[in-house]
Amino acid sequence: MQDQNPAQAWSGRFNEPVAELVKRYTASVEFDRRLAECDIQGSLAHALMLNAVGILNADDLSAIQRGMAQILAEVRNDQFVWSLDAEDVHLNIEKRLTSLVGDAGKRLHTARSRNDQVATDVRLWLRAEIDALVALVKNLQGALLDLAEQHADTVMPGFTHLQVAQPVAFGHHLMAYYEMLKRDGERLQDCRKRVNRLPLGAAALAGTSYPIDREMVARELGFDGVCENSLDAVSDRDFAIEFTASAALVMTHLSRLSEELILWMSPRFGFIDIADRFCTGSSIMPQKKNPDVPELVRGKTGRINGHLVALLTLMKSQPLAYNKDNQEDKEPLFDTVDTLNATLRIYADMIGGITVNKDAMRQAAFQGYATATDLADYLVKKGLPFRDAHEAVARAVRHAESRKCDLSELPLDELRQFSPLIEADIFAVLTLEGSLNSRNHIGGTAPEQVRKAIHKARQALGK
Ligand code: ARG
Repeated sequence: MQDQNPAQAWSGRFNEPVAELVKRYTASVEFDRRLAECDIQGSLAHALMLNAVGILNADDLSAIQRGMAQILAEVRNDQFVWSLDAEDVHLNIEKRLTSLVGDAGKRLHTARSRNDQVATDVRLWLRAEIDALVALVKNLQGALLDLAEQHADTVMPGFTHLQVAQPVAFGHHLMAYYEMLKRDGERLQDCRKRVNRLPLGAAALAGTSYPIDREMVARELGFDGVCENSLDAVSDRDFAIEFTASAALVMTHLSRLSEELILWMSPRFGFIDIADRFCTGSSIMPQKKNPDVPELVRGKTGRINGHLVALLTLMKSQPLAYNKDNQEDKEPLFDTVDTLNATLRIYADMIGGITVNKDAMRQAAFQGYATATDLADYLVKKGLPFRDAHEAVARAVRHAESRKCDLSELPLDELRQFSPLIEADIFAVLTLEGSLNSRNHIGGTAPEQVRKAIHKARQALGK
């Protein structure tokens, strides 16, 4: 970072230069330079409008366009010389523009302020990032669908309280995460509507005395409309908070799946294996293969939750209108986007790299009396009140436990000790497949329903 001209853009009213430490403390260029392309895009739309309403002449407009084209190339080629003295991305670019095209560069800031400028930049930037994230969420949904399709009738134990509850299809389990991600994608798209409003024209806080055309700038930049109150436009960051809350939910959902992948990969479960490229070994224990990626996703969820709290706290009790506090919105927001983007990319690939041990899943379902509810339902269908059926089956389970076998392995006469209603047709009910197939309604785990859900999802997703 090079210190160029010591005179700040606003130093006219000051008697002494700002202290070195304060300069570093207040500067944001180290991180907000990331907004450079959006800043240029916003400035070009503003200049076009200034010309259209007669505030900027055609020569100045084309000088600004020429200068900005060069600056854009410099930024992209990493040749732009960023200066801490120029404080932030906006003043760095303006200063460079002026050095390239002279007075035209100094006219660009007519009828705007950095307050409406920065709010515009962040919205432009976040809009594009949301679009990329929505595509990545869909991509991960597609990976889940592929795996679910292969396992529409793979039986695993479904858990409540992490105790074996009832058999479910592994595909059904995966489709639960598909649903979560579907809502996550919807939330991101919904948040985008409120991101996509133009603050520019609010100027510092009260609007401007120039005859500006905000609608034109909004159209130029692809915004759905303008922010309708100038004070609100420059000050609120609710759109960033809302986005971060949506991101925290995506991460929260992935932390749940991660926790399950970690458990399933433990030899105690042995349900799955995760491809080596997502795992690491131990420097001391040669036998180890650790599920680092899901563990990190679980850990990084805490980091995103932290960003959400940081942004909420940043906004809390801020009086109208712009306050410098808002400069602190960028790092949490940028890190949220980067973390979520990387997580979604890596996760889709990792789901594609999962191998499933069907036998281990089946054994676990078989050992947990997962079809006990089916036996109770069988008795109810034969006329026994549910509470009595529940009691009879509980006794049968205790008996099977003492015999160290599954309910389906008890001979018929032993089963009949618990209810005379039990007949030979019970064995079809007590199989894992029988249990699965019987839950044959929308949202149920019957493989037929799982396949229907996958088909519907593929149509919705276009994948
Ligand atoms: N760097 C500032 C930010 O990120 C830009 C706006 C500063 N405005 C001001 N009047 N100091 O919020």
